[in-house]
Amino acid sequence: MRYKSQSVAYWYFAVAMALFGLQLVFGLLSAAKYLGPDPLLYILPFDVTKMIHTNLLIVWVLTGFMGATYWMVPDESRTELYSVKLALWQLVLWTAMGLATIFGYFFRYGTGNKLLEQPLPSKIIIVVVMLMFLYNIFMTIKRSGRFTSTEGVLMGGLGLAAVLYLPALLHYENYVVSIFYRWWTIHLWVEGVWEMIQGGFLAYLLIRLSGADREVMEKWLYVIVGLVFIAGIIGTAHHYYWVGVPHYWLPIGGFFSALEPVALVGMAVYAYAAIRRSGVQHPNVLALHWTVGSAVFTLFGAGLLGLAHTFPSVNKWTHGTMITAMHGHAAFYGAYAMIVLAMITYALPSLTSGRREQGSPVGYWAFWMQLGGMFGMTLSFGTAGIAQVYLERILGLGYLDTQLKIQVHFVMLIATATVFAIGVGLFIYDFFRYPVRTTISDEPELKPRPIPHA
Ligand code: HEM
Ligand code: HEM
Ligand SMILES: [Fe+2]
Repeated sequence: MRYKSQSVAYWYFAVAMALFGLQLVFGLLSAAKYLGPDPLLYILPFDVTKMIHTNLLIVWVLTGFMGATYWMVPDESRTELYSVKLALWQLVLWTAMGLATIFGYFFRYGTGNKLLEQPLPSKIIIVVVMLMFLYNIFMTIKRSGRFTSTEGVLMGGLGLAAVLYLPALLHYENYVVSIFYRWWTIHLWVEGVWEMIQGGFLAYLLIRLSGADREVMEKWLYVIVGLVFIAGIIGTAHHYYWVGVPHYWLPIGGFFSALEPVALVGMAVYAYAAIRRSGVQHPNVLALHWTVGSAVFTLFGAGLLGLAHTFPSVNKWTHGTMITAMHGHAAFYGAYAMIVLAMITYALPSLTSGRREQGSPVGYWAFWMQLGGMFGMTLSFGTAGIAQVYLERILGLGYLDTQLKIQVHFVMLIATATVFAIGVGLFIYDFFRYPVRTTISDEPELKPRPIPHA
């Protein structure tokens, strides 16, 4: 940690960790309801637990993005943050809003618009928080006068993410219109501007961890972002197949969204090439695991499993089934959870006292158990989805009869999710077991990498 104000990131990461743990409690609860019996049916039904599960996901990932930005921007711009006080107030307001919104969901106080269930007062606070955040970062960069391309991509992603939240503030009476604009936020976030955020963190981490040449890395980062936009923007149409809009969206959606994985292949190759080619290595090998892991798991969860159901001829069978949940979990985890965990793992030895730079055995267990667990969860959702499509949509069995026949997959889901949750528990334990440090520490030396045998 070269700048004292970077330590504000610790508090963001700490909140993110707590909410990540809570997200899993509601995930396991939602999964248990598929198996039944459900003693909480009238107190905490499935729609409420799922809503809390997904909203907590979005809140903790965004908290992680903000913390990671507060860590990275001083480092890139070589300056202290503009205002630590503002950053802390922002965190207090954000966390209070998040918890109050979740509490409101217990009483079904929300819009009912999937993933954008936040009621209007919460949405207004979200906008205020985003403005505080962007102002603080903007002033930090302006004051330092040093602005890197990596930072530019990150800032572009964060700014556009805030702009794309604006359609979600409006209320549409007509359901088709409401669904149409919902994707401007959700799809353009996860398959557009959030990928800029991921790309910014990825480039930063690869430059720091592998000593890769900044100029080369930043040039390729632009290419990847360009590819994301070419396919991702019009690719929104893969959500317009069955929602009551004209049929021409079918071929448009199929074609452009099928191009989306190209950028994700680019990202994985980018990460792999950076570590292969560079001659030096940072001691924090655990952070490198998370960084490269994020690029590779994104290619699997978003690229491959997204492609698997993106053509209209496939999606007409799989739409809104467990196949969607399969892809949603693997994609979100690989792209956004893992990149946040990578930034945390990179920053943590500086943010806390007494921690080894290389990472601890607990840290490696956390990595592999999460990876294995999430892979197993993906398979469980996937196999459940294939059986569901066949029984319900091809053979015409009723929804509940089908659910009874695919219960074994939910047993598998709970078993693999338990492995995953233990991995997350270990990560959280590893996070909190060393005390926070507020003093500046030396940068670890990059050491020459052993040359791999051909
Ligand atoms: C990191 C990137 C991605 C994330 C986080 C992500 C996440 C998600 C989530 C959460 C959903 C469910 C949304 C809802 O129903 O409200 C979804 C749906 C979908 N995604 Fe992705 N996705 C990503 C990338 C992709 C890519 C690259 C493709 C295509 C190649 C794709 C294809 C689809 C399709 C077709 C659906 C609709 C499923 C249905 O009809 O039920 N996704 N995605
Ligand atoms: C203990 C681990 C977890 C369990 C047991 C779990 C379980 C579930 C269940 C049962 C659902 C409802 C699926 C449905 O619509 O019927 C769900 C939804 C969802 N979960 Fe998880 N989850 C876990 C962890 C995670 C993680 C780590 C992420 C992301 C990083 C995540 C992202 C999502 C998303 C995006 C949805 C909505 C998918 C959709 O609407 O299609 N979950 N989860
Ligand atoms: Fe999409």
